Amino acid sequence: MTEPVSICVIGSGYVGLVAATCFAEMGHRVVCVDNDEAKVKTLCEGGMPIFERHLPELLSKHRNQGLSFMTDLAFAVAQSDAVFIAVGTPQEGDSGAADLSFVEAVVSEIARSIGSYKVIVEKSTVPVYTNEWIGRVLHRHGVPASDFDVVSNPEFLREGTAVKDFLHPDRIVVGAGSERAAEVLRRIYAPLTEGTYYSTPGALAGQRSESNPARLLVTSPQSAEIIKHASNAFLALKISFINSVANLAEAVDADIEDIAVGIGMDSRIGSKFLRAGLGYGGSCFPKDVAAFHWVAQQRGVDFQLLSEVRKINDAQRDIFCNKVLSALWTLRGKRLAALGLAFKGGTDDIRDSPAIDVIRRLLAAGATIVACDPAAQERAREVLAESDKMRYAGDVYEAAHNADAALILTDWKEFGEIDLDRLKGEMRFPIVIDGRNLYNPTTMREHGFTYLSVGRPANYEARQGELRSVAI
Ligand code: UDX
Repeated sequence: MTEPVSICVIGSGYVGLVAATCFAEMGHRVVCVDNDEAKVKTLCEGGMPIFERHLPELLSKHRNQGLSFMTDLAFAVAQSDAVFIAVGTPQEGDSGAADLSFVEAVVSEIARSIGSYKVIVEKSTVPVYTNEWIGRVLHRHGVPASDFDVVSNPEFLREGTAVKDFLHPDRIVVGAGSERAAEVLRRIYAPLTEGTYYSTPGALAGQRSESNPARLLVTSPQSAEIIKHASNAFLALKISFINSVANLAEAVDADIEDIAVGIGMDSRIGSKFLRAGLGYGGSCFPKDVAAFHWVAQQRGVDFQLLSEVRKINDAQRDIFCNKVLSALWTLRGKRLAALGLAFKGGTDDIRDSPAIDVIRRLLAAGATIVACDPAAQERAREVLAESDKMRYAGDVYEAAHNADAALILTDWKEFGEIDLDRLKGEMRFPIVIDGRNLYNPTTMREHGFTYLSVGRPANYEARQGELRSVAI
């Protein structure tokens, strides 16, 4: 059994809260700090500020045991060996640069509280050389070099599967400038890298096990910072690539779903992140692609590929809205059921959600929207206020009642399991425009729907028939 480490996590957003809870699950003593008093109160009282699978169970298991919440940063830092910074790094204006003012403010506060050696770990997604800047700020505040090391330990959590991603990671990256600091991080992650966590009673099951434990890669701080940005940029590139191929597939009556399977079977390419649709959104990909591009520009590197990735992603939303127009001719006075508000299924997060963007455009074109989402409805109401043009429904069937068309905007599992006959019975016209390819075109046609999706022949049935007759 590895020795527990005293850990302080600053920031209780998605990354901070998941990291703090999972560190407690791994057997460490964790204090999670936030300057938002209301949020800390909610967490202390057993409330959940975010929607994330497995988090409520783990939080109630460890709250007031190995995990506590407070606003007193100085106190929390003083009693910790490792201090993880997990505060927001929003995009600053249109330049793509990350706003690091929250990170800097936290580092200045940490500097005032350091009395003995600490490892300061940057967990927030930050541009290359942030690690060095953190060190400089600590020096400026008079912290002796012997009292700290700064380490970059990027997170690769996906919303909706964040807890599993943390406890069963593909890899753990540690960018450390000193062996002493790397050793502290090795101790922290030992339950995962030595596999002891996976044999603990009640451990969350996943891809890792005692015989196949997590792998930890130690690099320089700069390399770790680049690994984070480059990973997200590469995944975004994969999505834009498949979306471009989908547009071509549609133009030549090919089927992107078959194409994605065919490409993905090549183990050098891999089958993941090849789902064509409305493009990527969320709090990470759009921001990280822009930030990575900005970092490259600052260093005089012409990374044009990243502008293309963004351009293609933006265009997917236009293409989808044009598809809605092509099915309905005009939008003024039309009633549309919008199935989905979150940026992807399994989360209540609507940050940079393609669904919200598409709804805004359709509202501007004169349509009336009735939206539903299993989790993101409350958040959506804050940005798309309810009105006679924008309404919210309790479920898919209520949203579809008297609709001229239903639009699938988010890949919720529930939206792939709709009772199609019931849906058709509710609608004024049985038209489904699917931005996430959740249905088989033949099934939709058999249920009497006009079905348009992404990267698949519009006249799918006719085409299949033609192909069959050629084969005969
Ligand atoms: C992402 C990264 O995956 C994670 O490693 C990082 O730490 C944070 O950013 P997340 O934003 O939670 O995670 O979502 P993810 O599941 O990666 O999806 C991002 C976007 O891409 C979503 O809008 C999703 O709908 C879209 N997507 C994903 C596609 O359009 N096609 C795909 O094949 C995969």
